[in-house]
Amino acid sequence: MTPEMENPLREEMRMERKAPPCAVVIFGASGDLNKRKLTPALYSLYQQHLLSNGFAMIGFTRTKMDHQAFRNLMTEATKEFAEGGIGDPAVWNSFSEKLFYVAGDPTDPSAYQELKELLSSLDREQGTACNRVFYLSTPPELYAPIVKQLGAAGISKASTPDSWVRIIIEKPFGYDLSTAIKLNSEVASVFDEEQVYRIDHYLGKETVQNILVFRFANGIFEPIWNRNFIDHVQITAAEAVGAGDRVGYYEASGALRDMIQNHLMQVFSLVAMEPPVSLDANAIRDEKQKVMMAVYPFTHDEVPRFAVRGQYGPGTSNGKPVPGFREEIKSFNAKSKGHQYNEESDAPTYAMVRLMVNNWRWAGVPFFIRSGKRMPKRVSEVAIQFKRVPHLLFKQTKADRIEPNSLVIRVQPDEGITLKFGAKMPGQAMHIREVNMDFQYGQQFGHHSPEAYERLLLDCMLGDPTLFARWDMVEKGWELLGPVLDTWSEERATFPSYDAGSWGPTEADEFIAHGAPHRRWRKP
Ligand code: BG6
Repeated sequence: MTPEMENPLREEMRMERKAPPCAVVIFGASGDLNKRKLTPALYSLYQQHLLSNGFAMIGFTRTKMDHQAFRNLMTEATKEFAEGGIGDPAVWNSFSEKLFYVAGDPTDPSAYQELKELLSSLDREQGTACNRVFYLSTPPELYAPIVKQLGAAGISKASTPDSWVRIIIEKPFGYDLSTAIKLNSEVASVFDEEQVYRIDHYLGKETVQNILVFRFANGIFEPIWNRNFIDHVQITAAEAVGAGDRVGYYEASGALRDMIQNHLMQVFSLVAMEPPVSLDANAIRDEKQKVMMAVYPFTHDEVPRFAVRGQYGPGTSNGKPVPGFREEIKSFNAKSKGHQYNEESDAPTYAMVRLMVNNWRWAGVPFFIRSGKRMPKRVSEVAIQFKRVPHLLFKQTKADRIEPNSLVIRVQPDEGITLKFGAKMPGQAMHIREVNMDFQYGQQFGHHSPEAYERLLLDCMLGDPTLFARWDMVEKGWELLGPVLDTWSEERATFPSYDAGSWGPTEADEFIAHGAPHRRWRKP
C-alpha cells in the first residue's frame, strides 16, 4: 500500500474510533501502573486526537496534593515512561490541564462526595457529559471498598438517559475461586455486568488480537488447526527479570496466579476456540468460554500429571550474577521497616500446566502452558507443533533429524509469525535443514503497534467489551486451576529448582517428554 493510499484509510479508522466525552477516574493514581502505563496511554490517545475535547482525568489517592502537584507528578512520569516522553511541550500542557486530583481515603465516604462534586463541575466546565470510567488500579484489597463507596455516593449508575458509567478492574480478580466469587458479587451488587470491564492487558496486544485474524481471515490454516495435524501446542510467557521490588506481591501470588490464570488462559482460549458466529463481543466471548468448558477438569490427585512448579535460585542474567528468589526476599526484609515476607517461601516463580481439551477438534492434543521469571530472555509466544511426517522418506540421507513443522506466533518482542519447515540444503547430497518463513510486524507495517493499555482504555470509553474478560471465563479459570493452587499450598516444594537465567526446572523437561520423547520445550 502506498503512503497516499494508507493515509485516508488511517484517517477513516481514526475517525471511527474517537472516544466520546468522559471523565476517567483513576484510583491508585500515584502507583506504578498509572505512572508507567495509564497516563502515558491516555496521553498517547490525546496526541493522536483520539480523545474528545470533553475529556478529563481525575487521580484519586490518599496523598494530599492539589491539581497542580498531581499534574507535575504526571509530567515527570510521562517524561520517564511514555515512549516519546512528553514530546511537544505545548501538547503536553494542554493535556495536563485536563488532569485533576482528589485526595482521600478510599474507604471514607466524604472523599466520594468531593469526587462527586468534582465530576459534576467537570461535566459543566469541561463537557465530560456525565460519562464516567472508574479505573481500579489500587491493591486488590481496596477493590470491594471502593466499589461499595461508589455505590453509596450514588455515582455508580448513569445519571442521564444518554450517559454511561463503566468500571475497569485490574487483575488480580480474586486470589482463588472463592475470593473471586466474593469480589464479583460485591461488584455485581453495585454495577451491572455490562458496566464491568475486567482488564487483561494481554488481550490489548496487537499480536494476541491477530490470533483471531490469522485463524479466521485466512482459508489455509483453519483446515489444519486440529488434532489431525497438530501434535501439541506450547504457550510461553518468559521473562528475564526476577521478582525485583515486587517480592511482596509475588510471594503471595506466584506465577500461576500472576500470569497463567489470566493472560495465558486468554491466549489459550483464542488459539483453541471455535469460529465465532460474528465479531460481536459476546459471540467471541461465548466461544472462548465454550472451550474453557471443554478443558478436562483435573482433580487434586491428578495435579502431578498436569502441572509443574519451580523457583529460581541464584544464577546469571545477561551475563551478571543475580540472586535467587529467596535471597531477594531476605534482602527485602533486611531493608524493610514494615512487613517481613517468608524467607523460605514456596511461591512458584515458574509454573506450567497441561490442558487437555475434550472436544472433536482437540481430543488428545495437549496444550502446554508455561510462565517463568528469570528465564534466559523475555519472550511470549504460541508455538503450534505439527505432527511428524507419516513416513520418513529421507531416513538414509542424514535427514533423520527432520523437525516436524511448527508455526510460531511471536507475541513479543520481535512481533511476528514464523512457519518452520525442512528444506534441501544446496549441494550434491540430500541434506535437509529447518528454515523459516517469516512475517515481522515492524518490517511489514513500519510503525509501532499501540500499547495494549491505549487500545483497552479506548475500547472501554467506546463501550466495546470484546477484549475484556467476562466473569464466566474468569470464574472457570480459577475453577480449573484451583486444584493446583490448593495442592501447591498444602505440599512443601523442594526449592530452588532452577538456576536464574535457565529455562526452568528439569522436571518440566521430563514432564513434556513423558510418554512422547519427541516433545521438547522450545528454547526460543
Ligand atoms: C503482569 C504481571 O500482569 O504482566 C507481571 O503481574 C508481568 O508479573 C507482566 O511482568 C508481563 O507483562 P508484559 O506485557 O510485559 O508481558
